[in-house]
Amino acid sequence: MGDPSDRLLVALDVDGLDQAATLLDTLSGVVTGCKIGNQLFTAAGPAAVEAARKRGFRVFLDLKYHDIPNTVAGAVREATRLGVFMLNVHAGGGLAMMRAAAEAATRAAKDLAVPRPICLGVTVLTSLDRHALDAELGIVSTVESHVLRLAGLAKAAGLDGCVASAREIGPLRLQFGKKFVIVTPGIRARRDDGASGRRASRNEEGMGGSGGRAPRDEGGLGGSGTGPPSQAIIATPSGDDQVRTATAAAAIEAGADYIVVGRPITAAPNPRAAAQAVLEELSG
Ligand code: C5P
Repeated sequence: MGDPSDRLLVALDVDGLDQAATLLDTLSGVVTGCKIGNQLFTAAGPAAVEAARKRGFRVFLDLKYHDIPNTVAGAVREATRLGVFMLNVHAGGGLAMMRAAAEAATRAAKDLAVPRPICLGVTVLTSLDRHALDAELGIVSTVESHVLRLAGLAKAAGLDGCVASAREIGPLRLQFGKKFVIVTPGIRARRDDGASGRRASRNEEGMGGSGGRAPRDEGGLGGSGTGPPSQAIIATPSGDDQVRTATAAAAIEAGADYIVVGRPITAAPNPRAAAQAVLEELSG
């Protein structure tokens, strides 16, 4: 599998630069990659990317661009200038928008003589399930087939991969092959890991505390997705918004290239130990 720490991206969902710097210093030497998303980037802007990069972290800029092609192309150019190693756009923005993003990344990298970032399409958010797709968004489809449809669009547009839950990795790999980059958020502790694991298990069993939603409507993990036993003791906050979850080991076992882990590490009493536990789970 290579070095597990290459696969772990910690989501720095904090409200300012000071908190981000503290977290980065806490994780330094254990974690090598981080994810900067809408909260921190809105609070601190490019300085957040700089703070991570100057400490030696690779940065996945998770701003999920979703706008007209010209605007997204401009944003991708600026993200490339920041030196992020990966970025994403919403696949729901359509083919022309994703094509503009892919082309902008290639052109900007050449013009600025920097590495071209990996460009991903966000498929179906891990906080959504089939009920939400149908009842709220009017998409009459299983989550899996909608993810496959959006990922196919991303590939056709020239993007390098997609963001999807662990549950869709098997079918994604089957359809798009080994080189398609798959990034998986919605990572939680396995169900017999004690109190925190039992809280997480509500999501794995019944699609979360989203009363009335159909349980298990997307089936289990793809491929060999049951994964090896997890040793990680990672805290999961109550009232969790993620519904399509898996353990870190199960996501990697199913074929994710990267996993994104936020609160199970950042909200843990000891984030460094929680990150170490996730890495041990991946090595185990
Ligand atoms: O705290 P938690 O582990 O749920 O954090 C997951 C992170 O991954 C969040 O920053 C969230 O924005 C991000 N993400 C996600 N689902 C996607 C894409 C990104 O949860 N489809």
